[in-house]
Amino acid sequence: METRVLPFDDDAIAEGARLILAGEPVAVPTETVYGLAADATNAEAVARIYEAKGRPSFNPLIVHVPDLAAAQVIGQFDDTALTLAERHWPGPLTLVVPLRENAGIASIVTAGLPTIGLRVPAHPAMQALLRAVGCPLAAPSANASGSISPTRADHVMKSLSDRIPLIIDGGATDRGLESTIVAATGGPPRLLRLGPLSIEAEVGSGAKIEAPGQLASHYAPSKPLRLNASSAAADEFLIGFGDVPGDVSLSSSSDLVEAAARLFDLLHQADSSNKSRIAVAPVPDTGLGAAINDRLRRAAT
Ligand code: TXA
Ligand code: MG
Repeated sequence: METRVLPFDDDAIAEGARLILAGEPVAVPTETVYGLAADATNAEAVARIYEAKGRPSFNPLIVHVPDLAAAQVIGQFDDTALTLAERHWPGPLTLVVPLRENAGIASIVTAGLPTIGLRVPAHPAMQALLRAVGCPLAAPSANASGSISPTRADHVMKSLSDRIPLIIDGGATDRGLESTIVAATGGPPRLLRLGPLSIEAEVGSGAKIEAPGQLASHYAPSKPLRLNASSAAADEFLIGFGDVPGDVSLSSSSDLVEAAARLFDLLHQADSSNKSRIAVAPVPDTGLGAAINDRLRRAAT
């Protein structure tokens, strides 16, 4: 696919919105770094973010909304979260709060977690795109896995050219650093990632930064899980793929985008089934399959 670059204007936003509503990821500037945005309610669209980035693992993604009211439809805000949101939004603060059930957010966005990272960005391009699409946008930084975060459209182009349909060029980003992340999930707020805001005073001097990679932030099923299963034992719920039908299938057509989109829903389904163990059919280790297998291996240990 050829990647087009359009300068930020009404036409670019209209084209970006059209692509996003068709399930494609689009690169768009925020005040921190360029994000690769997709409809957070469309699991396959979000899977295409991972496909484009070539990211070998699933992380919970930040969901962008136009204002606090839209954020409160998706997450539960206690007084701590409300105070931080009112003080810093729109701006480079991400708040991790409990996810509302029935908010319509695809489970691949939160990687199956009961919490969600929400942010109201200040950049006019991201704001215009959010208002044009009318849905929340999941967006990690718009770079291929392993490269540094992009602060200009040509950084995105170097990293993701031919992998995404559109980059909206809004020039260099102001902040150049990913958003500060604070968890407000009950009790005192916790600083999860340092960023552009000097927020230590607000989240308490005892706040300990939790490196994202080390967060106990990964959903894992409560039951034992066996990999590379081509058939199920009597006490196993089998998640199939391709030729292995299973009790349910990640993708009977061996489509890795579909499989990634369904992964966390099916893990939850297997966990709440009446079988005591979970088995999963082999998934090829290519493209998105590497991220799927990374998640499954973690769930199996
Ligand atoms: O500035 C930014 O935040 C940029 C722009 C595009 O908005 N986005 C960004 O996204 O940096 P990403 O995907 O690169 O970083 C998301 C971080 C991850 O480290 C993840 O662990 C954390 O947010 N995160 C998201 N949801 C979370 C949750 N429910 N619990 C804990 N951590 C969460
Ligand atoms: Mg990143």
